[in-house]
Amino acid sequence: MSLSSSIATGRLALQVRRRAASPALRRAVAKVEALSHSAPVAQLRRRVEPIYQREPASAAKYAKPRHWILLNTLRVADLGLDTASALRVLDIGCGPAYFLAVARALGHEAYGVDAPDTALTPVERDVYTTLINVFQCREVVSPLLIERFKPLPFREQPFDLITAYWICFNRHRQRDEWGRQEWRFFVEDAMACLRPGGRLILDLNEHAERYGQLRFYDEATRDYFRSVGTVNQGKVLVATASI
Ligand SMILES: C[S@@+](CC[C@H](N)C(=O)[O-])C[C@H]1O[C@@H](n2cnc3c(N)ncnc32)[C@H](O)[C@@H]1O
Repeated sequence: MSLSSSIATGRLALQVRRRAASPALRRAVAKVEALSHSAPVAQLRRRVEPIYQREPASAAKYAKPRHWILLNTLRVADLGLDTASALRVLDIGCGPAYFLAVARALGHEAYGVDAPDTALTPVERDVYTTLINVFQCREVVSPLLIERFKPLPFREQPFDLITAYWICFNRHRQRDEWGRQEWRFFVEDAMACLRPGGRLILDLNEHAERYGQLRFYDEATRDYFRSVGTVNQGKVLVATASI
């Protein structure tokens, strides 16, 4: 592991110690960590290490579980999932299923969707398949390609919480990256897949070369997000009215 990634992981560990101290969360994290200490993960790590050395931003980075378990511990703590009663959760673009693993270890009924295998690179396929199996999430992850102006197929089984972290399904860094119209469609559609009192959390990837100081979106998209929820840099929270 490089010095900078050790420092990043050490910082996450400090934040987890400060902010995510509930006994329920500690137990859940211990459970996920125990699953990650397995031969398939050690083998995966060896397989993808040369790829990680060449392309540290590729999915090979997920083969180092400690960092990702800590990050997703903070995510569930930020959402209050360690103190909430069991929620029905959907994680869109769940990738290697770290968020699902921690949420499920806390007792939530969490499901994930991600692009079908045919849309993944070989390293993504290898890393996601291995980790989804290790975290015992195979049964709860389904292939689903998110496309602009295409509704989600979940209106009949709504969720309490829909999350999407480090979003790429918006054609991130492509010429046709989503703008206000696409996001408006997606948010309105996702809200229709939530129960009363439900929440949608979007965590956008940065694209400063395109958006300059706004970094995550253009002004029109930012204004749309602000009109429906709260926006903190790349994080957007939209809540339905509770009845
Ligand atoms: C940067 S990764 C983030 C993974 C995970 N959410 C996290 O925070 O670590 C982006 C994920 O979105 C998925 N993805 C990209 N385009 C997608 C699409 N059109 N539909 C569904 N998933 C997509 C990728 O396969 C990948 O798992």
